[in-house]
Amino acid sequence: MPLKVAILGFGTVGASAARILSERNLPGLALTHVYNRNVARKRVDWLPSVIWTEDLDAVLASEADIIVELIGGLNPAHDSVRRALEAGKSVVTANKKLIALHGIELESIARESGGHLLYGAAVAGGIPVIPGLQHGLAGDNITRIEGILNGTSNFILSRMEHGAEYAEELAEAQRRGYAEADPTEDVDGFDARSKLVILARLALGANVSPDEINCQSIRQVGAIDFAYAKDLGCTIRPVARADVRNGNLVALVGPMLVPFNSPLAWSRGTENMVLMSGQYGGDVVFSGHGAGGNPTAVAVVSDLRAIAAGTAPRAVQIAPAAVTGEFELRHYIRFIVKDRPGIVAEIAGAMAAQGINIDSLFQRSGFGKDKLPFVVTTEPCVNSRLKLALARMQNADWQAEPPLDLQILEPEPSVVA
Ligand SMILES: NC(=O)c1ccc[n+]([C@@H]2O[C@H](COP(=O)([O-])OP(=O)(O)OC[C@H]3O[C@@H](n4cnc5c(N)ncnc54)[C@H](OP(=O)(O)O)[C@@H]3O)[C@@H](O)[C@H]2O)c1
Repeated sequence: MPLKVAILGFGTVGASAARILSERNLPGLALTHVYNRNVARKRVDWLPSVIWTEDLDAVLASEADIIVELIGGLNPAHDSVRRALEAGKSVVTANKKLIALHGIELESIARESGGHLLYGAAVAGGIPVIPGLQHGLAGDNITRIEGILNGTSNFILSRMEHGAEYAEELAEAQRRGYAEADPTEDVDGFDARSKLVILARLALGANVSPDEINCQSIRQVGAIDFAYAKDLGCTIRPVARADVRNGNLVALVGPMLVPFNSPLAWSRGTENMVLMSGQYGGDVVFSGHGAGGNPTAVAVVSDLRAIAAGTAPRAVQIAPAAVTGEFELRHYIRFIVKDRPGIVAEIAGAMAAQGINIDSLFQRSGFGKDKLPFVVTTEPCVNSRLKLALARMQNADWQAEPPLDLQILEPEPSVVA
């Protein structure tokens, strides 16, 4: 008998998943229910034999074997998934927020009740990063994750490379439907952080909460930063990265200078990219469409097929881990100053007081003296010390705008225990 599938949420991904199930007529799977609020306006003639309902309790009490949660957000998604698992059903979801915040609790219910909880679509949409980790890379010991996990911020930054400012490219992303009217989740790093939390669990065995990881926004990056980054052989990308040192998860999300020879520098537009470094297999790069109805629905249907084929992995229990953001990396600091003699000496003094060495200092010509951008790069230093140095300068009369501090991506950052 095919497994009965109920879809909760007939929106962008839900409709695409239903379309794939109906067009491909996959063995072992039968779509039986579609749940949505005000469901009458959602009915389509290409799904003649499903039950359309706005009664969630009835779906959860039905004979459906698998609940596909594609409502998004935390409510009623969390309650629905929990109840479905408690009833012994399996659940497939694309909901990164739900899995980042409640995945551990939900996986424990799934383990006890015998159902599966799969969320291959929750990270990087249609790119099989999660199945890749759970199957193809299961034999390796993954030591580092580095990725572009948010297509909207990658769209904005990769277009700013050609001289545009942030506001122009945000407006373009909104015009194309890539960015919400309130772009906070994407541009301030929270969406990427949820995905990094999920990857850190699966790849590094580190169980942490999203709010334990620092996020830096891309809003402060300007066109001038791309010009200076180019002088350093780099571009700027929204990066999420994590590794484990001395039992701690070292993780952060934010715009970073990425050397042109890094695969991350090659990703453009809404593309997502994830680089996994393994102790035995070395680096593996996944890239492709990280969002969109069809690519995301492919990941959802792949999870359904894994359950139907009996190849779905079982979640293992993971202990909570401590998190630090204390990478020791080179930094790019862009100041905008009202020019006067002595500024460089003050910066050097504040840095030296924290034991930080300046690596280079450079300035492009053609700017007025009242708003002069110039850049300092440091030798590898600990974030917290650099923050102290910058804090000491924050009230200086020569600062026309707060400085922008970006980390410079390097292959193997070291961390202070
Ligand atoms: N879209 C993507 O590219 C993408 C990529 C990766 C992951 N995801 C994840 O996939 C999930 C679904 O995203 P989506 O883009 O398909 O969202 P969406 O287009 O907004 O679809 C959500 C659907 O759920 C319905 N819904 C919302 N709240 C409801 C409630 N309280 N009760 C009943 N129905 C409700 C909505 O109905 P209304 O029409 O009435 O609003 C809509 O049909 C999210 O977790 C998202 O993060 C999406």
